[in-house]
Amino acid sequence: MERIILDVDTGTDDAVAIMMALQSEDIEVLGICSVNGNRGIDNTTENTLRVVEYLGYDNVPVYKGCRFPMVVTLTPNRRECFPYKGPKDPKDNVHGDYLELPAATIKEQKDHAVKFIIDTIMASDGDISIVPVGPLTNIAMAMRIEPEICKKIKQIVIMGGGYRETNITATAEFNFWIDPEAAKIVMQSGCKIILVPLDATHKAAVSKDLAKEMRKTGTKACDYAAEIIETRWNGYKTWQPMEDVNTVPIHDALAVSYLINKDVLQNIVYTHVDVDISGGISDGQSVCDVEKRDKEAMPNAYVALGADKNLFEQLMLKTLSKKERK
Ligand code: BDR
Ligand code: CA
Repeated sequence: MERIILDVDTGTDDAVAIMMALQSEDIEVLGICSVNGNRGIDNTTENTLRVVEYLGYDNVPVYKGCRFPMVVTLTPNRRECFPYKGPKDPKDNVHGDYLELPAATIKEQKDHAVKFIIDTIMASDGDISIVPVGPLTNIAMAMRIEPEICKKIKQIVIMGGGYRETNITATAEFNFWIDPEAAKIVMQSGCKIILVPLDATHKAAVSKDLAKEMRKTGTKACDYAAEIIETRWNGYKTWQPMEDVNTVPIHDALAVSYLINKDVLQNIVYTHVDVDISGGISDGQSVCDVEKRDKEAMPNAYVALGADKNLFEQLMLKTLSKKERK
């Protein structure tokens, strides 16, 4: 059983990741932290609560996290739009401002997400994994406030970065780009890090026919995941078509899948990953030294360059077709 803290900027693919984590028999979700990212913090928190309530997991606490990235918005012209509002062309928009689920009636906890992370990790026996699938602001803030947590985190399974694949600029992946300094702090933390970059999530892009299979199961989780696959496919086919145009990435769910079955990630390289925080044209780029050119650089992450698409689809279908709580 993996005990985890999930950190999300919900978001459609975050929603699938949350549903998989809640429904999996191999995962115990201790709490879900929201962070600024796909949309502002009030939206990502409300969206997270909507998903949790939709599946009836009202007992799983949700904590609101950081409203701002660490420092990236302080430098004039470094980030033009804050909070992020999605692609300029609305038809490419795969998240929307709010998820198409009933408004939440449950509320987030009083404590801040960063406090929850610190308290939970410090009180643990070193058996808790953190799974951030949004910008790394909450995790980096927690590490700055209480560096001792780094010695007690079992592992951090991050959806973020890219080796050869990018999505928000010519050089950067969205989660790292939103808060590059936070990404750098986490990469330098000394924690065991499993990095699930775009190179893996694009290889695991799911077929849009999976949505049909999911609808046949009739569970609420499958129904909603099917809707998300279709919405995302409609956006991705023009915004960022995959090599196989009938597939679409559900990035964040791949990181959660790794906690259910490690074989879902493939071609894992243990190497040094750094993050560009220069504010230049490569701002937020994850620099993965896969060819090990820098002989001085110590490896700090297990970087997955591939993924088993069929296994990922099976895990998604199996986990989400489990009967929900209500
Ligand atoms: C990541 O960016 C976000 O938009 C998605 O939710 C995912 O976490 C992919 O680059
Ligand atoms: Ca996300």
